[in-house]
Amino acid sequence: MQYNTLESIDALRAAAAAEFQAIVGDADAENFRVKYLGKKGVLREIMKTLGNVSPEERKTLGAAANALREEIESRFNDAREQSKGDGGGDPGFDPALPGFPFPSGSLHPLAQIRNHIVEILASMGFSIAYGPEVESDYNNFEALNMPPLHPARDMQDTFYINEKAVLRTHTSPVQIRVMKEQKPPIRAIMPGRVYRNEEVSARSYCMFYQVEGLFVDKNVSFADLKGTLLAFSRRFFDENTKIKIRPSFFPFTEPSVEVDVECFLCKGKGCGICKHSGWLEILGAGMVHPSVLKSGGIDPEIYSGFAFGMGVERIALLKYGIDDIRLFYENDVRFLKQF
Ligand code: DAH
Repeated sequence: MQYNTLESIDALRAAAAAEFQAIVGDADAENFRVKYLGKKGVLREIMKTLGNVSPEERKTLGAAANALREEIESRFNDAREQSKGDGGGDPGFDPALPGFPFPSGSLHPLAQIRNHIVEILASMGFSIAYGPEVESDYNNFEALNMPPLHPARDMQDTFYINEKAVLRTHTSPVQIRVMKEQKPPIRAIMPGRVYRNEEVSARSYCMFYQVEGLFVDKNVSFADLKGTLLAFSRRFFDENTKIKIRPSFFPFTEPSVEVDVECFLCKGKGCGICKHSGWLEILGAGMVHPSVLKSGGIDPEIYSGFAFGMGVERIALLKYGIDDIRLFYENDVRFLKQF
């Protein structure tokens, strides 16, 4: 091997480094020393091969070779010094030293809340279904009893992709997909991300997560809805939690309700989080409207059902006492580390 370019000297450095790493005992160390640092070692021989280069090149190459020899020598001697302390075996490797800890990630708080919601409902017999985030206007609105120009469309400011497609404004259109694919009895939950064309503020964001629920069978009644939501709330919040059901309006359910849970911070006494009412609103629900069952290909004369939809951010804000929804989307590690 001729070492008459700077690249070849770099290659020698790499080879020496690899051999140095591989040293495991005194015999290896001695071989290494003879090969690289001995009187007839590679690094002395280099100077001989330099005879046939120009004087300037000789100067730079000579300097590079000397620097490399000094580098190897000092690393070798350091390692030898260190290994003296541990009986002279391995130069410089102590397997008992603690490793370098590296930071581990964790689930996003929204993912944790969603997983918890899904786990509880799945254990109650609900299967999990998904739909696309780009949804047809038909599934997002019309099939849910909101024909074009229906005023209820104004409840949800919409991002339109084109005349026929939208970024879904809620997970309710997945109900239609599930009803078209499955036959009753249907018990499904549909978690996912939804979008609304809203001004971003501490209270609202242009996207968020919902978990939708749907139960369709013969003789499903409002009592089933109440029982399911009470059981869910008691497992999610507190085993003695009370729920309150208030009349409301959604075009896709009749009757429609909103459900409050007893404030889990003050246990109903009234505090800052529940605005001194003792109650927190957590979801919308109702009995599936007959024309929605029809859109899903299900005969409302034979079957009935209930549905509900809850906002994951809202529950996370309440649960952790956070006052700004934007924090969930900034991915500031100082915020995320707290969960
Ligand atoms: N889709 C409604 C919303 O985003 C929430 C909702 C209300 C879902 C009632 C339902 C329901 O399934 O029955 O505001």
